[in-house]
Amino acid sequence: MTQDELKQAVAEAALAYIRPHLENDTVLGIGTGSTANRFIDCLADIKGMIGATVASSEASAERLKGHGIPVLDLNAVDRVDFYIDGADESNRALQLIKGGGGALTREKIVAAVADKFICIADESKLVNTLGAFPLPVEVIPMARGHVARELVKLGGDPVYREGFVTDNGNIILDIYNYPIPQALATEEKINGITGVVTNGLFALRPADVLLLGTEEGVRTLYPE
Ligand code: 5RP
Repeated sequence: MTQDELKQAVAEAALAYIRPHLENDTVLGIGTGSTANRFIDCLADIKGMIGATVASSEASAERLKGHGIPVLDLNAVDRVDFYIDGADESNRALQLIKGGGGALTREKIVAAVADKFICIADESKLVNTLGAFPLPVEVIPMARGHVARELVKLGGDPVYREGFVTDNGNIILDIYNYPIPQALATEEKINGITGVVTNGLFALRPADVLLLGTEEGVRTLYPE
C-alpha cells in the first residue's frame, strides 16, 4: 500500500470509530495536514449527522466549508466531543510531535478542549523516541533571535522556517538533532522560554487513541 492509501484507510477508520457516537449536536475538532484532509473528505458523506466542526487552521476551515460542512469559532462552542488530527511522530505513550504544517498552536488549543483526541497516522509515524522529526516551535517574530539562542543552550539546532507565517502571524523555528526521551519535561521547558507561543510536543495533552495505518490493516493503539 502507498502512504496515501494508508492515510485514506485511517481517515475511514476514524469515521467508523466516531460514527456510533454522533448526534445532531456533536462538535468535531478537525486537524490540519494531508491525513486530516482525507478525514475531512470522508466527513462530507455524513455531514448531516453532526452539529458542527471547529478547525485548527484556515486551510482546514476552507476545505470543510468547501464541502458544505459547518465550521464554528472555538469560542462559539462550550465543548468539543472529538478531535481528529494527524501527527509527524508518535511514541507508544501517544505523545506526539506535530506542527509540520505549522498549525501546532491552534491544534494544541483544540486538542486541549476536546473530550477525546483521535490521532490518525500511517505506520511511518510510530517511533521509539521522539525527535527524528524536527520539533516545530511557534515564536513571536521579534523574539526569534532570543528563542533560537535559548534552544541552542538546550542542545538543539533551531532552523528558521523561511517564508512561512502561521495563521496567528508568527514564525516557526524547527529544532533539528534533538532527541526527546522526556517529552513532558521538554514540552514545559521550551514553553517556558519567553517569546515562545508553543512547541509541537503533545505530551501534556497526548492523543487518547492512535489509529495507525499498516500493511496488515488499521491498528488501534492506546497509551502504554
Ligand atoms: C500540521 C500537523 C500535521 O498533523 C502533521 O504535520 C502531519 O501531517 P500529514 O498528515 O500531512 O502527514 O501537525 O501542523
